[in-house]
Amino acid sequence: MVKKSLVKLTEFSPHCGCAAKVGAASLHEVMKKFPACADPRLLVGTETFDDAAVYWIDKDTAIVQTVDFFPPIVDDPYLYGQIAACNALSDVYAMGGKPLTCLAIVCFPVKKLSLEILKTILQGGLDKVHEAGALIVGGHTIEDEQPKYGLAVTGIIHPDRIITNARAQEGDLLVLTKPLGTGIMVTAAKAGLARDISEAIDSMRSLNKAAAEVMQEVGVHAATDVTGFSLLGHLHQMLLASKKSAELWVGDIPFLSRAEEFAQLGLIPEGAHRNRAWLRPQCDFAEDIPIYKQDILFDPQTSGGLLAAVSEKKAENLVARLHDAGITPACVIGKINKEKLGRITITRGEG
Ligand code: CO
Ligand code: CO
Ligand code: CO
Repeated sequence: MVKKSLVKLTEFSPHCGCAAKVGAASLHEVMKKFPACADPRLLVGTETFDDAAVYWIDKDTAIVQTVDFFPPIVDDPYLYGQIAACNALSDVYAMGGKPLTCLAIVCFPVKKLSLEILKTILQGGLDKVHEAGALIVGGHTIEDEQPKYGLAVTGIIHPDRIITNARAQEGDLLVLTKPLGTGIMVTAAKAGLARDISEAIDSMRSLNKAAAEVMQEVGVHAATDVTGFSLLGHLHQMLLASKKSAELWVGDIPFLSRAEEFAQLGLIPEGAHRNRAWLRPQCDFAEDIPIYKQDILFDPQTSGGLLAAVSEKKAENLVARLHDAGITPACVIGKINKEKLGRITITRGEG
């Protein structure tokens, strides 16, 4: 690998180092001006807050399309490339699809940073795309003050096997495949308080490919990946699309090892505050759940895990198969209920 550059890539990122995402509330405000496309070939559009759009080609084939890119969240250019690619590919996996081709999106300050850094970012992305069994077939680069990298991904899926947000059923159990806290860990690293965040980095650069395959084999009702809108935000969107409510058991939710410690120190990314402002009115927290634990549930994730709603009958098998596939953090974290559209009740759980 290229000798670690003296340049701190995250210095080119916004204050807290998290992927600076426009909040869900602002995004909704802008998007409501644009009516949803009404074309029968558009099988999944924007109405269900899904991870990717799905377009019908023929009875056996639909294409899945998505795009994601953001500024550096780690200083190592290779790892940044891997994480950004992994995060972009994830939206295809969250639909149960298989990525085929990718276009790279690159913004780079060519006068300030060496092209070696850019090459290393691209190599990280390329290696991840190859691991996914997909190809990078082109891209577009512009000069910009702040580096940004990501992919537009096209994948494929059988039209009968699309896993959307919209079909979670009452009584389904919720399964999460990666621990929470990447935003907090990245913020702690940026503040100089966490020297080694390799656990978070390894989680962010691990593909949701195997998880998506297992999910398809076992059969789930609904799924999404947990990214910038946090566990609560992505669950809330699934509940709105499915017209359900849910309960979460905090003691059962996997956290990165030091996420609680840093959350207690207040190392919360700005995006978590934005998520809280948006989602708090939709959530009923049991009184014995401390604020710092709530913060982890509001923490924006980069390249987070899949969150699936699966029938109670199949849940045990799903978790066992995920473990067999090496996805050891996978576990049941809550349950889908019927009334109270979009509401989330958070209790202490077993632990
Ligand atoms: Co930020
Ligand atoms: Co997503
Ligand atoms: Co995304």
